[in-house]
Amino acid sequence: MSKTKVAILGATGAVGQRFIQLLENHPWFEVSAITGSDRSVGQTYAKACRWVLPGQIPTYAREMTILPSEPGFEAKLVFSALPSHSAKTIEPLLAQAGYVVCSNASAHRTWDDVPLLIPEVNPDHTALTVVQRKKRGWDGFIVTNPNCTSTGLTIALRALHDAFTLKRAFVVSMQALSGAGYPGVASLDIIDNVIPFISGEEDKVETEPQKMLGTLVGDQIDFLPVQISAHTNRVAVTDGHMVCASVEFAQQVAPEAATAALEGFRAPAVVASLPSSPDTVIQVASAPDRPQPSRDRDAGNGMTITVGRIRTDPLFHIRFVNLSHNTIRGAAGGAILNAELLKAQGLL
Ligand SMILES: NC(=O)c1ccc[n+]([C@@H]2O[C@H](COP(=O)([O-])OP(=O)(O)OC[C@H]3O[C@@H](n4cnc5c(N)ncnc54)[C@H](OP(=O)(O)O)[C@@H]3O)[C@@H](O)[C@H]2O)c1
Repeated sequence: MSKTKVAILGATGAVGQRFIQLLENHPWFEVSAITGSDRSVGQTYAKACRWVLPGQIPTYAREMTILPSEPGFEAKLVFSALPSHSAKTIEPLLAQAGYVVCSNASAHRTWDDVPLLIPEVNPDHTALTVVQRKKRGWDGFIVTNPNCTSTGLTIALRALHDAFTLKRAFVVSMQALSGAGYPGVASLDIIDNVIPFISGEEDKVETEPQKMLGTLVGDQIDFLPVQISAHTNRVAVTDGHMVCASVEFAQQVAPEAATAALEGFRAPAVVASLPSSPDTVIQVASAPDRPQPSRDRDAGNGMTITVGRIRTDPLFHIRFVNLSHNTIRGAAGGAILNAELLKAQGLL
């Protein structure tokens, strides 16, 4: 099978670098173009990029020239790691020009004909791509992956909702610095500190799970009427978003039953066989002081989420702590898994 040519938009940023790393030797995809802002267009990747991941820039990318983020480059599939304000105009132009865009940006997540996708959670929502192309007259289409904090939380909520029916959730996040991009938060603002505000984040965490856990009915998604209250905080951790959640269900749920539902959660067969799919979607940590970002974020190559401290909640029914790798499962790895699903479903 010849590999599908892919472009990475915003390849020099925190998420763009993860794409460069994760796509090295990918069995289905081959990076044929990389883009950046005016700051770096025309330079080689090695020159323009301040590499912040462990190890060196993969050899294949070092001498690639950074192109403008506009139609014209040779690729069928586009991974977008653009800031949302740029994605807003650039991604529709690319979809119109026939590219399949898998985006990390929030710009189009709320469009009713754009899938907000986690393969293990709502693989059938890719049917919206057909609606989108028809409605907009585009040759290509846009698929989005959720906010990095919504991602891990929604995977756990999928498992629990399937078993017990969700009603309400109260969640508090502790989010890593890489979630703010590079250079991100100034060191003097975050060392010895916690910042109890991340612009726009609480709204995303409260609404995105409703769309992903919603039901595809005809040409649209009926949102799940789960009420979520979110507090989002930035903490001095490099990678890995932690969420403390208290959840109410339609019925009383014992911690042992919640644990069994999380441990028993499996990806649908079409997803489980994808190259980036982890062997274990949700790992349950039994130690009383886990999960912890530095110890658990790399589970399943950053694609497994870890849930721990599952116990009775005195206000709602169950509380737990949830951890996911924000630039892998919550960004580049999630978008690659989305693209693999599109290919497996014959949409790419
Ligand atoms: N970080 C995370 O954990 C995370 C998780 C989920 C989703 N996201 C989303 O993913 C996107 C990228 O986030 P990030 O954290 O990687 O940001 P970042 O580190 O600030 O990187 C932004 C990238 O976009 C490029 N860029 C900026 N303005 C541009 C323009 N006008 N045209 C073309 N390229 C432009 C930059 O290129 P130059 O270097 O050439 O300027 C850089 O490569 C954002 O929409 C973010 O909300 C991030």
